[in-house]
Amino acid sequence: MTSTLPESLVLGVATSAYQVEGAVGEGGRGESIWDRFAHTPGKVEGGDTGDVACDHYHRWREDLDLLAWLGVDAYRFSVAWPRVFPAGTERMPNASGLDFYDRLVDGLLARGIEPWVTLYHWDLPQALQDRGGWTSRETVRAFERFAAAVAARLGDRVRHWNTINEPWCAAVLGHETGQHAPGLCDRAAALAAAHHLLLAHGRSVPLLRDLAPGCRVGLVNNLVPAYPASRSEADHLAAERLHAWFNRWYLDPLYGLGYPERIVREEEEAGRWPPGGPEWLRAGDLETMAVPTDFLGINYYSRAILRGSEEGNAPREVFEPPAEERTDMGWEVYPDGLVDILQRVQRDYAPPSLAVTECGAAYPEGPGEESEVRDARRVTYLEGHLAAATRAMAAGIPLEAFFVWTLVDNFEWNHGFSKRFGLVWLDRTTQERVVKQSGHWLRRQMAGQKGRTS
Ligand code: FCB
Repeated sequence: MTSTLPESLVLGVATSAYQVEGAVGEGGRGESIWDRFAHTPGKVEGGDTGDVACDHYHRWREDLDLLAWLGVDAYRFSVAWPRVFPAGTERMPNASGLDFYDRLVDGLLARGIEPWVTLYHWDLPQALQDRGGWTSRETVRAFERFAAAVAARLGDRVRHWNTINEPWCAAVLGHETGQHAPGLCDRAAALAAAHHLLLAHGRSVPLLRDLAPGCRVGLVNNLVPAYPASRSEADHLAAERLHAWFNRWYLDPLYGLGYPERIVREEEEAGRWPPGGPEWLRAGDLETMAVPTDFLGINYYSRAILRGSEEGNAPREVFEPPAEERTDMGWEVYPDGLVDILQRVQRDYAPPSLAVTECGAAYPEGPGEESEVRDARRVTYLEGHLAAATRAMAAGIPLEAFFVWTLVDNFEWNHGFSKRFGLVWLDRTTQERVVKQSGHWLRRQMAGQKGRTS
């Protein structure tokens, strides 16, 4: 089968440290907020934790061989902060923690796979949480030291850097809804955390440029295109409100536009935004966040359909698609949403380049009689979204890369291991990996794109 994927599109697979590594007590690694959260009864489905996860810390060679077998161009992974600064504030980084990533990067390069490093994918050292975590400005300083230590070690070989993964999730799920670590339920804390996450991004970009000469840097946002349920004014307003709170709050400041006025006004009315601005918003912060970057990473999974209330002030999300059009997460399969959000971002912010840093689907299929994993729905999902990415490129969107989430079924945060996103099936008892139909499909795509015969 010949692939129709654009030749210039870099194709990769993405993972994150806590979701795959395991080995939480090895190599001097400290405790992270996800260790603490997952070990708190009732927080994660089935009482699952990342203690072992995919045992990637020990099986990384096998996993890199899988990536090479798939034929992907790039691999996006994250560095566990508590492996580098186990207690968050040590004077010197933990050499053995950095050694692991050093070997990983060399292993990727030896296999012809380009590393895309994410610095923060949610595993804050617990010791920093004990001092206020992302609600405290001290954590920004600690992040600068972490970024500098990683860049000093890997910057001679790693060209692509993601500073922060999905600040919305880290801030809101972690501090307002309590579904993620550290499990707080306080909107004011979420606003402070969001601010410090974006500030940490802004502060780290110049450091990375210094320590990783010639690097390309970007932040990764999870974006959800919001559509009104009808043509009514109320529904339109509801969709724009979600766009402002979910997407623009994490985009406008990156492009020098400050925080969206309409949400600030709502926060003022709710008494969470004092007249002179919150204490954490200091002079110069917005300028720091707006540091120019080389690309914007977008994680895309689904869309939202919004209905406003009669009064126009209590929008709610409505799900209209039937069950068969949703993934195991309950998310609608909607590839056109990727085109729409890429176009809107391009129109409103014109980043020099864009990357889909995550896109994928959870489906439960496992090995059948002949130990094949027939996950045809995942193939359909990926085909649809890659076709959407191709359409966006044809329409002039400067999309450089597309990463499938994820390599092997892994620890899906508060859902534990109950949701399987992998191209490769994980047997949690034996740690055996079985390539799913979607993995075979991706390998053929890669072969086709490179003009080889499969
Ligand atoms: C994203 C996360 C990633 C993974 C996918 C399914 O929000 O960045 O770690 O859990 O969702």
